[in-house]
Amino acid sequence: MNEKTGICVLGSLNIDQTVRVDVFPRTGQSVTGISYHTFTGGKGGNQAVAAARLGGKVRMAACVGRDLYGDMYLSALAREGVDAACVARVDGAATGTAVIEVQSDGENRIVYIPGANAALDVARVDAAAPAIGGARCLLMQLETPLQGIERAAGIARAAGTTVILDPAPACPVSDRLLALCDYVTPNETELSALTGLPADTDAEAEAACRRLLARGAGAVLHKRGARGAMLVTAGGTRLYPAFRVTAVDTTAAGDTFNAGFAVGLCMGQSVDDSIRLANAAAAISTTGLGAQTAMPTLEQARTLIAGA
Ligand code: RIB
Repeated sequence: MNEKTGICVLGSLNIDQTVRVDVFPRTGQSVTGISYHTFTGGKGGNQAVAAARLGGKVRMAACVGRDLYGDMYLSALAREGVDAACVARVDGAATGTAVIEVQSDGENRIVYIPGANAALDVARVDAAAPAIGGARCLLMQLETPLQGIERAAGIARAAGTTVILDPAPACPVSDRLLALCDYVTPNETELSALTGLPADTDAEAEAACRRLLARGAGAVLHKRGARGAMLVTAGGTRLYPAFRVTAVDTTAAGDTFNAGFAVGLCMGQSVDDSIRLANAAAAISTTGLGAQTAMPTLEQARTLIAGA
């Protein structure tokens, strides 16, 4: 029997240049930073590593350059137990990078330079079709070309693989892509950008989520940071509280949330329990500096859930 297993993450691999500051500088202002670090990051890599830490069997489909950062990322994926057989090395492009400022309340702002991530095109997605169709869940974000993302969603849908799309960073997506997604997981900014609607209050957010359902999404799992999560389906709306932690760096909290949700579903947990796992993993991930530094194991996430 050819049984589906694990999670295929299709997306970006970046090296993050992370600077800590007390307060973000204003336009035209120079400030003295507190520290500078180089971390592995990128929304795709973050989701893959978070899922692997939580015990998921993970395959990554991505692109890096033939440079030292590419070497660094492939070593990191191997250490984390992520299968990188579908990570291509691209000639003539640098591995993706991101310049990140983190201020003392843990909030961040990011400038992303795609580099080799821009080469994750339809042909490379087709080459990864066995990994996509063989997985129980396909996890994607929006830091790689949209045509490739749509192709991957189509391959997954045809194979009966659950499609989870994290529409980050915010950019317009087609109704065709939304209709191929079992779950779309926007935060407030992304929800507003996708729908043109405000998403600050519960009522506004729910209305915006319903707009995405009307455009074809199977369900909308709205990430709300310190406010937890909101699940909106044709059958109703449910809120899930966040777990309280002291945040050091919120970079990749959303990525960890998506990974936790996918791992929960792949373990056969209910949607409710998978969202609790997502919330717990995301909360813990904010307690260290760097995208992947504090991503938890399944045991650490379960301990937080049990103590709540
Ligand atoms: O979601 C966080 C990630 O966004 C960072 O790791 C950075 O690489 C950017 O892609």
